[in-house]
Amino acid sequence: MGLDDKEIVALSGAHTLGRARPDRSGWGKPETKYTKTGPGEAGGQSWTVKWLKFDNSYFKDIKEKRDDDLLVLPTDAALFEDPSFKNYAEKYAEDVAAFFKDYAEAHAKLSNLGAKFDPPEGIVIENVPEKFVAAKYSTGKKELSDSMKKKIRAEYEAIGGSPDKPLPTNYFLNIIIAIGVLVLLSTLFGGNNNSDFSGF
Ligand code: HEM
Repeated sequence: MGLDDKEIVALSGAHTLGRARPDRSGWGKPETKYTKTGPGEAGGQSWTVKWLKFDNSYFKDIKEKRDDDLLVLPTDAALFEDPSFKNYAEKYAEDVAAFFKDYAEAHAKLSNLGAKFDPPEGIVIENVPEKFVAAKYSTGKKELSDSMKKKIRAEYEAIGGSPDKPLPTNYFLNIIIAIGVLVLLSTLFGGNNNSDFSGF
């Protein structure tokens, strides 16, 4: 494909994200302590602890061999075994900015090569039981998520409220109301220089 060692190592860093599943590729555990929850179907084995966050933890975690619950494919391990790959893998484990820069360039190159289907006419899945409808997989908005509830509570407390007492008086709003009342009173009862009698 015309990718050099640097690009191969950088692109492998995409495995910072996602999981492998034994029922799909045959690789990985059916579930680990890191994949009990998450978007989509739970389970599988991730390469990193935070497998929804894109950073250089893939290189750090493989280097430290930190956990049996994290996946290391033979191709991942090769990045720290082959002397040429190793230079880049070590660098990316230390330097997240270098990883981001090289990853972006390598990903652009990969994309520009274009996706080539084999067979060229693509793959059609026969006998699909039902049409794919994305909305079916949405969680809906019947109930606020726990993290959203926490966020709303934090904002409420930040402006002085608490779960046990109502918000204190909003002084700014009171001043605006008082000014409004004064304007109204002076309009109704105050002197009117533009009245028909002002000439007298
Ligand atoms: C040496 C080349 C590579 C090998 C051997 C490899 C192998 C694999 C395997 C076995 C899986 C698990 C699939 C499954 O069980 O569902 C996987 C997933 C994944 N691969 Fe690779 N991969 C390679 C290169 C790449 C590259 C170049 C990228 C992107 C630039 C990439 C991105 C991903 C992602 C994001 C997942 C997770 C998918 C998910 O969570 O559903 N991989 N890869």
